[in-house]
Amino acid sequence: MSRRVVNIGIVGAGLMGREVAGAIQRWPMLVDHPVDARVTAVADIQPRALEWFDAIGTVRSRYTDHRALLADPEIDAVYIAVRHDLHERLYTDAIRSGKALLAEKPFGIDLAAASRIVDAIESTPGAFVRCSSELPFYPGAQWVLSAIASGALGRIFSVRAAMLHASDLDPAKPITWKRQARFNGVSGVLNDLGMHALHIPLRRGWEPASVYALLQDIVAERPGPDGMVPADTFENAELLTRVRTADEDFSLRIETKRISLGDKNTWSLEVQGLDGGVRFSTKNPKSVEFFTRADLPGVGLEQVWQQADSGSVSVWPTVTGPNFEFGFADSILQMWASFLAEYAGALGERFGCATPQEALAAHRVIDAALTSHAEGRAVAPPR
Ligand SMILES: NC(=O)c1ccc[n+]([C@@H]2O[C@H](COP(=O)([O-])OP(=O)(O)OC[C@H]3O[C@@H](n4cnc5c(N)ncnc54)[C@H](O)[C@@H]3O)[C@@H](O)[C@H]2O)c1
Repeated sequence: MSRRVVNIGIVGAGLMGREVAGAIQRWPMLVDHPVDARVTAVADIQPRALEWFDAIGTVRSRYTDHRALLADPEIDAVYIAVRHDLHERLYTDAIRSGKALLAEKPFGIDLAAASRIVDAIESTPGAFVRCSSELPFYPGAQWVLSAIASGALGRIFSVRAAMLHASDLDPAKPITWKRQARFNGVSGVLNDLGMHALHIPLRRGWEPASVYALLQDIVAERPGPDGMVPADTFENAELLTRVRTADEDFSLRIETKRISLGDKNTWSLEVQGLDGGVRFSTKNPKSVEFFTRADLPGVGLEQVWQQADSGSVSVWPTVTGPNFEFGFADSILQMWASFLAEYAGALGERFGCATPQEALAAHRVIDAALTSHAEGRAVAPPR
C-alpha cells in the first residue's frame, strides 16, 4: 500500500526538537498508519544547534530563520519547540503558512497570547493545529481514561493530577530561560507543566469553575554568566479547584512542581468515585491501580487497590510486543501518530492530541491561579 508521505519541519533544535526528531525515526514501528512521516528540515537561530540533525538521515534542509522553513514547499507539517515568549509570533507565522502545526505547550506566554493564537487559527481557513502533550498517551493513562469513561467508578468525588520534576532542586543550577518570567511567563511552572496535568481533565470536560492556588518562588536567584541574576518565576504550584458540570461536582487538585524531591518527570492521575478508583503514575510506568472491594482469604470483604501491568499498547498499534514496556519516546511517537492520523482524517474514535481550545482553557486556569495567589482567594477562570 502506498501511503501519503508527510514531510515534517522542526523549528527549535533544542531539547524537544531533538526528542521529536528521534521519535519520528521510529515511525516504521506504527502498524497500518495512514501516512509515512519523516523529518526533512530543521530551523534554529543557532547554527551549531542544527549540527545535531546531521545524524537524522532524512533531513535535507537546515535554516537559521523559521520563515525560510515555512516557505519551503516540500514541508507539510511543522513542529515548533521554542521559548514561550516566541510562541505567538512563530505559531501565527506557521498557521498563516498553511502548514499543519503541532506546537509546544503552553501555547503562548500568557492567556492574551494564547487567545491571539487561537484567533489566528480561527481566521485561517483549513488550519490544522494541535498542542503538544504526550504523557496521556502512556497506556496506563489511557486505561485511566477508559476507566472513567466506563462509568464504573460511580459518582466521582476527587481527582488529583500532577506533573513533578526535581530539575530545579539545586540552587547552584545556572539560570535558564525557564526560570525567567520574561521568557517563560510569570506563572513559571504552570506554563511549563500545567498543560500536562490538565490535558485529560480538560478532555473530560472538567474545566474548573473556581481555582485556589498556592504558588512558590523557592529559589529567588541563580548563577548567570556574570554573577547571580533573579530567578523570578514560581517553581511550584498547587491548585485546589472545583469542577461543576451538569451532573458532576468534585475537587480537582492540580500539582505542578519543578522542585519535588526525587521526581524526574512524574506525571500522575488519580480518580476516586463512590464505586471505584483508578490511578496511574509514570513513576511506575506499566503499573495501573484499580480500587475495588474484594473478599480477601481469611480476612473477608476489604477495600483493595489492586495492580495490573498495562504493557505497551497505546492509541495506535505498533509492532512492539504487547507485553513490553512503554517509555517517554514511545509517548512522543504515539502523539505524532494521533496528530498525523487526524491530519489525514483517519483518527476515528482514537484519543487525539490536545486542541488549541484545550490549551486556551489551560491558560484560563493558569490566569485564575495567578489572581488567586495574588489575592489569597478562590477565583473563577475568565470566560
Ligand atoms: N512536551 C514536553 O514534554 C516538553 C518538555 C520540555 C519542553 N517543552 C516545551 O518545548 C518548548 C521548547 O523547550 P525546550 O526545552 O526544547 O527548549 P530549548 O531551550 O532546549 O530549545 C529551544 C531552541 O529554540 C531555539 N530558538 C530560539 N529562538 C528561535 C527562533 N526564533 N527560531 C528557531 N529556533 C529558535 C534555541 O536556539 C534552542 O535551540 C517550550 O514550549 C517548552 O515548554 C515540552
